[in-house]
Formats: sequence, C-alpha cells, structure tokens
Amino acid sequence: MMADNSNNNGKKIANLLVMGIETSCDETAVAIVDSEKNILAHSVLSQIGDHAEYGGVVPEIAARQHISNLDHLIRRTIEQAGVSISDLSAVAATTGPGLVGGLMVGVMTAKAIAAAAGKPFVAVNHLEGHALTVRLVEDIEFPYLLLLMSGGHCQLLAAYGVGDYQRLGSTIDDAAGEAFDKTAKLLGLGYPGGPAVELAAREGDPSRFQLPTPMKGRAGCDFSFSGLKTAVRRIAEACASERGALYPDDRNDICAAFQKAMGICIQDRLQNAIDLFREKAGTATLPLVVAGGVAANQYLRDCTQTTAHNNRMTFHAPPLELCTDNGAMIAWAGLERFVRNPDIDDRSIAPRPRWPLDTSAAPKMGSGRKGPKA
Ligand code: KG4
Ligand code: ZN
Repeated sequence: MMADNSNNNGKKIANLLVMGIETSCDETAVAIVDSEKNILAHSVLSQIGDHAEYGGVVPEIAARQHISNLDHLIRRTIEQAGVSISDLSAVAATTGPGLVGGLMVGVMTAKAIAAAAGKPFVAVNHLEGHALTVRLVEDIEFPYLLLLMSGGHCQLLAAYGVGDYQRLGSTIDDAAGEAFDKTAKLLGLGYPGGPAVELAAREGDPSRFQLPTPMKGRAGCDFSFSGLKTAVRRIAEACASERGALYPDDRNDICAAFQKAMGICIQDRLQNAIDLFREKAGTATLPLVVAGGVAANQYLRDCTQTTAHNNRMTFHAPPLELCTDNGAMIAWAGLERFVRNPDIDDRSIAPRPRWPLDTSAAPKMGSGRKGPKA
C-alpha cells in the first residue's frame, strides 16, 4: 500500500485494492476495485466479432484471444487506475465455471502476477462474482434472494453470506441467456442474441403469437426453456412459408412474444422461490437481487421488479454494464473473500470448468457453455 494512501493521479484510495481478471467465456476483462466500492479502472474487451460467424463461442478461438489480449489489458487497466502492482492487496481471477482454455489463461496470469508481487491469489467463482456485484454498487446485506440469469446458468438461490448459498431452483435444460441466443440465431438476428432480441421485441406486438410457458403453475422453482426455442422455430417456419420469407415485423412480433413468455415463466418460478425463501429466512421484508447478463434486459428487470414489489420485497439489480461479464465483479468477489480471510492463499486451486455455488445441491440436467447449469 502506498504510504500517503493516494494513487499516482493524486486520487485518494481506500486501504484495500484488488485486481480482478475475467476470462471464462468470450470477454477478456480486467478491473481494479477498492474496499470503499470505487471501481478505479474497468476494461472489457469483447470477442463478439471473432465468434459471430459461428453463431456462438468457439472455445479455442476464445482462449487464443485471451492470450493475445490479456497482458496489454492488464497494463492499460493498471495505468488507468493510477496504481502499481505493488499497491494491490490481492489478485483475483475467475477460476470456474467456464471454458477451461480461457480459465487457464486468466488463472495462470493472475497467479504469476501475484507471485511476482508477493500478494495472495484469490480464486473466484464466476457465479459468485455475479451474485455479489450488487454489493459493489450498493449497501445491501445478507440474506437476499438471488435470481441469477446468464448465458450458461439460470438459478434461484438463497444468498446467506459470502460463500454461503442454497440453491432453490435451476433450469433443467437451457439457460435463460441461451434461450435468447438460440431464438436470435433461429431468427437470423446474430450473436449474442439477448440485446438483439430485446431491441426487436420493443418494435413487436407480443399478442400476435402465443408461445408456451414451460413449468408455469408447477410446484418448485425449476425452469425449463427448451420448449420455447422449439415453438419459436415452428412459428418462424410457418411465417416464412406463408409470406415467402420472414419479414422484420414477423421477427419483431416473435421476439416480443418470446420475451413475454420468458417474463411469465420467470415471474411464476420467482413467486415460488419467494414463498420458499420467506419460510427459510423467517422474515417478511427481504431483498430480491437479479444478476447475470440477462438481468441487463429491461423488460425482465421490470417483470421481476413487479413481482418483488407485489411481495413487499426491495428490488436490486446491478447497472447494465455490470450485469454482463466484467472484471469488476471478479475483483469485488475477490475482495469480499480476502476481507473475510486475509490469509487466503488459493495458489493450489486449479481452473474448474464446473463449480456450482451450492456444492450440496445435486446437478441438474444439461451442459451449458460454462459447464452444467446448476
Ligand atoms: O453473464 P453473461 O455476460 O455471461 C455468462 O456468464 O454467461 O451473460 C451472457 C448472456 C448471453 O446469453 C446474452 O445473450 C445475455 O446474457 N444477454 C441478454 C441481454 N444482454 C445480454 N439477454 C437478454 N437481454 C439482454 N439485454
Ligand atoms: Zn457471467
């Protein structure tokens, strides 16, 4: 730590400073955060262009791009933060779940920097990064109900503390982001699908097509989205054969119906989870936290916020740029773990392609881009 407690730009810094590295999928991201919840620097290099022609992430391309980009991204982020490596309290990296090639790049780099600087390395679970991001941007205490929706996962969890999660429900097939991505691919909207579907849905009529709402009305908190994708394909094919091609208004209407169906399913599952969580936590006023890339979707934010308010819960979601993968969430989760265990030393932990948040819960079916979906 620098003696005068300020960085090279003369900006005051708090007493703990953690760098976080994220390379678990198709974003190379680095950030430095401090214990006063300042994001000193935050860089995300998306590989969207490198994978677009394949309609999804190609693991080998992703790993190669992380290797090419990570070093200079780290250098740039440290410069922007106005600190030096010796100022860091710890170096954190996503150690799982994710694509093993990318994880290895981030973990090896973080361990090397940590060793050279004589700082601890903190192995961060990517899902915990999403789970804790909201605490970087506001003062929210445990316990909270967490709806985590990303490209590889869709889960409802009771978050009791750092490292202490209980899974209440999970998808049994596709993840929420995967459903958006597959719908976009079917409609020729490109990759990644979430933002494209959301944009198209804004122009569409959600009542022209009826899509199924899998699991609605069933007991429990599990999700299922694969039936939606099949229904989207069927409707798109029917439109194309009726009019000779799939027109923009067809696409927009299908996207609006799809998003509406997603909202109905998610609200239904969420309601069951709220009832269950209330029983477990034993208190009426509880926070609902929505996180992960799909939490960037304004329509679904509105749906989940409505459910929260109907249940007298407070609603919390990270700002849009911190919903999708980034380094700040990894740095923050690393900091949260370091604060609780200043002697932490995760050097012996190797990348884990599969790493559930609730290790006591049995895995559900399916294998997403980042390992099993629960
Ligand atoms: O959390 P994230 O960046 O990466 C994973 O951990 O998987 O989530 C990426 C997923 C992708 O499937 C992407 O299509 C989806 O989040 N996504 C969205 C939106 N922005 C990103 N889905 C719906 N609406 C959005 N605006
Ligand atoms: Zn993620």
